[in-house]
Amino acid sequence: MGGNIVAACSVAIVALMAASFLATVAVAASVPAVYVFGDSLADVGNNNYLLTLLKADFSHNGMDYPGGKATGRFSNGKNSADFIAEKLGLATSAPYLALSSSRNANYANGVNFASGGAGVSNATNKDQCISLDRQIDYYSTVYASLARSLGQDQAANHLAKSIFAITIGSNDIIHYARANTATKLRNPSQQFVDTLIQSLTGQLQSLYNLGARKVVFLGMGPVGCTPSLRELSSTKDCSAEANAMAVQYNMAAETVLRGMSTQHTDLHYAFFDSSAALLQYINQPAAYGFAEAKAACCGLGDLNAKIACTPVSHYCSNRSDHVFWDFYHPTEATAQKLTATAFDGSAPFVFPINISQLSAIYID
Ligand SMILES: *[C@@H]1O[C@H](CO)[C@@H](O)[C@H](O)[C@H]1NC(C)=O
Ligand SMILES: *[C@@H]1O[C@H](CO)[C@@H](O)[C@H](O)[C@H]1NC(C)=O
Ligand SMILES: *[C@@H]1O[C@H](CO)[C@@H](O)[C@H](O)[C@H]1NC(C)=O
Repeated sequence: MGGNIVAACSVAIVALMAASFLATVAVAASVPAVYVFGDSLADVGNNNYLLTLLKADFSHNGMDYPGGKATGRFSNGKNSADFIAEKLGLATSAPYLALSSSRNANYANGVNFASGGAGVSNATNKDQCISLDRQIDYYSTVYASLARSLGQDQAANHLAKSIFAITIGSNDIIHYARANTATKLRNPSQQFVDTLIQSLTGQLQSLYNLGARKVVFLGMGPVGCTPSLRELSSTKDCSAEANAMAVQYNMAAETVLRGMSTQHTDLHYAFFDSSAALLQYINQPAAYGFAEAKAACCGLGDLNAKIACTPVSHYCSNRSDHVFWDFYHPTEATAQKLTATAFDGSAPFVFPINISQLSAIYID
């Protein structure tokens, strides 16, 4: 009798273990791949293949990356593209320029098109990076390749289940913020943001037309608080102008996605307000485990923001207590905390749903 109960219990435990194993597999299988678009916040090595000044394939970049090596990430370690994949139980999507230069490239495991310096506008860092338009051109060849290898219907289904992660716009605004007064008078900030949003609308529509159905849009951070823009002010304050533009851009980008999802009921998205989320760390560093939210960890000059992070730059001893790695980019610690909120947080930081909810949406 007692033996039977023990036996029955172990059967139940085995059944439970099997059920939880299946549930884990089902969640992992629900998002087969991540396709990443954007700038240096998500570049995992595309710029290593370009003839450009915008590179990070040298120390001290990557000092906290597994193996302690520079990979082309503009960070001391991993970036948001890594953390998004990690939280989905997937390997980081490979850089497009690495895949496309290999024979028998497999695009079904995800592709990262992000390129340091890229903007919504082709004019931003022209010829120094892969602009968002060019990234989408590259993606259209990936789409055609998947359609050939998997068949049209299977490819469409695979892409509909995949996550399309986009982080773009910071470079456009930073360039504007650094422009001279005459340029700004000719093109007021509101008008500049409107023009960006007009382009972004077409770019998001192109991605939808090419099969994107689960979009993660990582909005722009408070770029006015990057050490680089702070350093421009005599008081080392954040650039209010640049931060206001980031807020306008984010609101408008979310409105575009909302409109698209109303028009196309099969489009789902999670919008992450990086600006609101990151301002918390900047305004109350200690509450979020940071000791330094103004100066860069790695660089030279005021706020370590006069000169980029290069092998001759200083770097801080504890990268986990700095919000910023170099004059523009967050540390791995910051990227990890932000991604965690994008996955499991709620409004006003991520809405209308978070990435966990987005990835759980069942696509037949
Ligand atoms: C930007 O570049 C893409 C090619 O990468 C091109 O198709 C597009 O027309 C360009 N846009 C503008 C406004 O020049
Ligand atoms: C580095 O900073 C983190 C975050 O504030 C802290 O938890 C950790 O203890 C620090 N490490 C050292 C060695 O001080
Ligand atoms: C976001 O994610 C978690 C699951 O990871 C969920 O429990 C939570 O309710 C979600 N937040 C909101 C606001 O829906």
